[in-house]
Amino acid sequence: MTLRPILTVDGDLATLKRKSAPVAEVNDGLRALMDDMLETMYAAPGIGLAAIQVGVPKRVIVMDLARGEGPPQPRHFVNPEILWASEETVPYEEGCLSVPEIFDEVERATKVLLRYLDYYGEAVEEEADGLYAVCIQHEIDHLDGILFIDHLSRLKRDRAVSKVKKAARVVA
Ligand code: NI
Repeated sequence: MTLRPILTVDGDLATLKRKSAPVAEVNDGLRALMDDMLETMYAAPGIGLAAIQVGVPKRVIVMDLARGEGPPQPRHFVNPEILWASEETVPYEEGCLSVPEIFDEVERATKVLLRYLDYYGEAVEEEADGLYAVCIQHEIDHLDGILFIDHLSRLKRDRAVSKVKKAARVVA
């Protein structure tokens, strides 16, 4: 497994805005990518990561909502789709590994019905609610080139991007 660099809005916005393509086959190469993504996500640390965040424009997501409390619960999603979303929404303070240090409230459906292929290419259909629902909607957005700051007002979004850029300059 290899740690991969995570793209951020200050240098890699054009890549992050790309729409990712469906995966044709879940094979060993794809599983190696998912293994790398999980390791990268754990090291960051984060609770979800989309392939485009490591520069790979494929519809692949990894997630672990355990956040280091108790045993790891890695989840893998290939070609995930939201089949149904509740009309009821809930605000949640989100962050993103590609938008470091920025947190803001986004409204998401409280419950969604998901369909995806798992690590072994098996089709899964399941309901998600709570943090799981919020996180999968955030990650599927990534596959469509949408960042959580795109759900904020233009003013807040511009402020977030310039804050990340300024922080990057300080570190460099
Ligand atoms: Ni994100």
